[in-house]
Amino acid sequence: MRLEIDDLTKKIKDQQVLDRLNLKVDAAELLHIVGANGSGKSTLFKLVVNIMAPDSGRIIVDAETHIGGLIENPSFMEDETAKQNMKFLATINRHYDETKIRALFERFGLDYDNKKRIRGYSLGMRQKVGIIQAIMENQNLILLDEPTRGLDQKALETFKTLIHELVGEKKTIIIASHDNLSDLSFDRILRLDKGKLAPL
Ligand SMILES: Nc1ncnc2c1ncn2[C@@H]1O[C@H](COP(=O)(O)OP(=O)(O)OP(=O)(O)O)[C@@H](O)[C@H]1O
Ligand SMILES: [Mg+2]
Repeated sequence: MRLEIDDLTKKIKDQQVLDRLNLKVDAAELLHIVGANGSGKSTLFKLVVNIMAPDSGRIIVDAETHIGGLIENPSFMEDETAKQNMKFLATINRHYDETKIRALFERFGLDYDNKKRIRGYSLGMRQKVGIIQAIMENQNLILLDEPTRGLDQKALETFKTLIHELVGEKKTIIIASHDNLSDLSFDRILRLDKGKLAPL
């Protein structure tokens, strides 16, 4: 796993959202990016997963980097069940491990065999499925954008335990949020402000 961002610049409309932003992430690092609403956290993640193109700058990942992401509101095939969605998402990378996914669903108190369409899921349920799809294929660079949004206390505890397990598995994890998630043991906390990342 390798992620290096050099002089990344992105303007949206008239706003300089990212301004020569630099970041080098170490393998197995748990990194927190904090930033106010509108500071560019989601934009940065969209550039890293390549669903948006930068104006200039470079994002370097190596061939061994397998990115999992939960960015803004997770989008699903709304008229399909959770299982149909997971199967579809996993076929993109041809890595569908039903036993593992089922266990993750159980840990979050979700029924993998629920016949309900995703459209009928609550905000918190969707968020849980969004977290699961970001980690279910053994991704080694995991980007989580406001991952705790909508989670109840029990789910929050499950989430934190899961993150620490992933850290133990040497996964690289970047969590973006506007609030502090102080009970996660981050290796580094950076603030995104005026288009740049700086130590908190
Ligand atoms: N599609 C778009 N059209 C217009 N402006 C946009 C668009 N996407 C992002 N922006 C602007 O870019 C800036 C950064 O947005 P971004 O969503 O990256 O912030 P954020 O840090 O994720 O905020 P939040 O904490 O609210 O999620 C904001 O000022 C936003 O208004
Ligand atoms: Mg955002």
